[in-house]
Amino acid sequence: MDQGQLQEIDQTVKGWLRDSRKFVLTKMAEKLNVAEKSSRKDLVTNVDKANEQFLIERIRQFSPDSQILGEEGFGDKITETSGWVWVVDPIDGTMNFVKQQDHFATMIALYIDGQGVLGYINDIMNDDLYSGGPQLGVFKNEQRLPAPANLGLADGLIGISGPLILRNQFNMQIVAEKSAGVRAYGSAGIEISHILSGKLNGYISYLKPWDFGAGKILAETLGLSVTTVDGKPLGMLSSDFVMVATEKAQRDILPIVG
Ligand code: IPD
Ligand code: CA
Ligand code: CA
Ligand code: CA
Repeated sequence: MDQGQLQEIDQTVKGWLRDSRKFVLTKMAEKLNVAEKSSRKDLVTNVDKANEQFLIERIRQFSPDSQILGEEGFGDKITETSGWVWVVDPIDGTMNFVKQQDHFATMIALYIDGQGVLGYINDIMNDDLYSGGPQLGVFKNEQRLPAPANLGLADGLIGISGPLILRNQFNMQIVAEKSAGVRAYGSAGIEISHILSGKLNGYISYLKPWDFGAGKILAETLGLSVTTVDGKPLGMLSSDFVMVATEKAQRDILPIVG
């Protein structure tokens, strides 16, 4: 795809995200309708669903031949990744959205024939949009982000999801101990945005395709490694234990997870 076409798609998606942010902020001011999905720790709200519908309508109008993978099920059932595939997480960090009205993001990714092309993480309450891809570079709003410093595990903060630390899965308590400190923000999008801007040097969590679709494109564009927790390539349509990290931190973590 030429640069002009890519810029045009980028501007279009940014427009959707600006409108969707306003939509979410408006809906937040009304009473939320909260339901449990698989458990009391896995919530969905009317805003997750409405925002996914809002974004999918726009994607379908803009590119009717694409496949769309959306967390709340308003997209397509996808079994293969050829052609254009959009990945949508309407509210990433729904628990934070419900309990804090803060620390959540809207995420969109575009893959073409399985290759990451454009990724977007919109941190709604800070009004910070992380965007870009391999042909454009990575931006926080209008500002281009440099590759983060390649710090080892001991020299930075690491994000690890609560359940992984509590169960000490993959020796995560040792990983936490060897880092400068552990953080758990409760939104994959927010955590990955912190790696892009150098505030964290790694993040490990069990994730589904819509949790890492956008972040993977942005992180890899900045030279970060995005793999399974044991260092294997990540399937675009599969859920897995995912590690996003600087190269050095990844090298330090792999022998610990075994
Ligand atoms: C969740 C968040 C959370 C991660 C979970 C995800 P959701 O996304 O990203 O940080 O630990 O695995 O499911 O369901 O709030 O979009
Ligand atoms: Ca969810
Ligand atoms: Ca998510
Ligand atoms: Ca979600």
